[in-house]
Amino acid sequence: MKLGIVGKGGVGKTTVAALVARAYRERGARVVAIDTDSNPNLGLSLGLTLAETDAVPVLPRSVIVGSGGDHTVGGLIDEFGRHTPAGVTLLSAIRVVEAGAGCTCSGHATVRTLLGEVLDARADTTIVDMEAGLEHLSRSGGTLAHVDALVMVMEPSRKSVVTAVRTAALAEELGIPRTVGLGNKSRGEDDAAFLRAAAAEHGIELIGVLPYRAGVARSDRDGGDAGGVDAELRALVGGVLDALEGAGRVAV
Ligand SMILES: Nc1ncnc2c1ncn2[C@@H]1O[C@H](COP(=O)(O)OP(=O)(O)O)[C@@H](O)[C@H]1O
Ligand SMILES: [Mg+2]
Repeated sequence: MKLGIVGKGGVGKTTVAALVARAYRERGARVVAIDTDSNPNLGLSLGLTLAETDAVPVLPRSVIVGSGGDHTVGGLIDEFGRHTPAGVTLLSAIRVVEAGAGCTCSGHATVRTLLGEVLDARADTTIVDMEAGLEHLSRSGGTLAHVDALVMVMEPSRKSVVTAVRTAALAEELGIPRTVGLGNKSRGEDDAAFLRAAAAEHGIELIGVLPYRAGVARSDRDGGDAGGVDAELRALVGGVLDALEGAGRVAV
């Protein structure tokens, strides 16, 4: 299973990517998480310190992975992957450290070709934490063209829903087999109802609504990770996995 986590800036893509990655790991899967944000911080959410996150080597740009290329999936993971306290292997695809150093297209091209390969020998689940915006769906064939499913994270705001609607249209053009919505930061039944209605209005399959949790925000603020989440949130994330695996839609 290869999953892309997308959505408007700040909706919780990185948080959700880490929660989903941990949940798959806890079910026994070997999980590779790929950070494609030019300002990478998925490592923090997987339990690394800032220094460790900054020290994760960035994947080479514009490499061709697999047949005809210089790199194999296994070779790239061995050389550039880093083990995290969450038990997930982290790859960092893009990092902007220099002002005026040019665009990040070639980093995205690497991720695209990596996702195009069969990763099964090294990972049961691959989760890509995307940068906000829609460019990754338009650029050079689409970074995420080879994912099995796109998870569009939405907070209870009109703008995050609009972003999801635009994303879904591009995903369909790219031929991504499944695109689903996932609500996040819901502060109550009003928010959940808004997300359900918006998803229904736009034909988005909503696979869950995660609540706003002070503990998640607090651990982010304090530099910790979101691993120590409460039982209810864990159960909801488990429901998201079930829905992704096709074990039926969860009640939201
Ligand atoms: N369910 C949640 N409850 C509380 N805070 C959350 C939740 N999800 C995300 N956040 C907070 O929202 C902010 C943005 O989350 P982040 O995952 O970095 O978003 P993105 O990757 O989409 O930019 C962070 O401070 C994070 O801790
Ligand atoms: Mg992020």
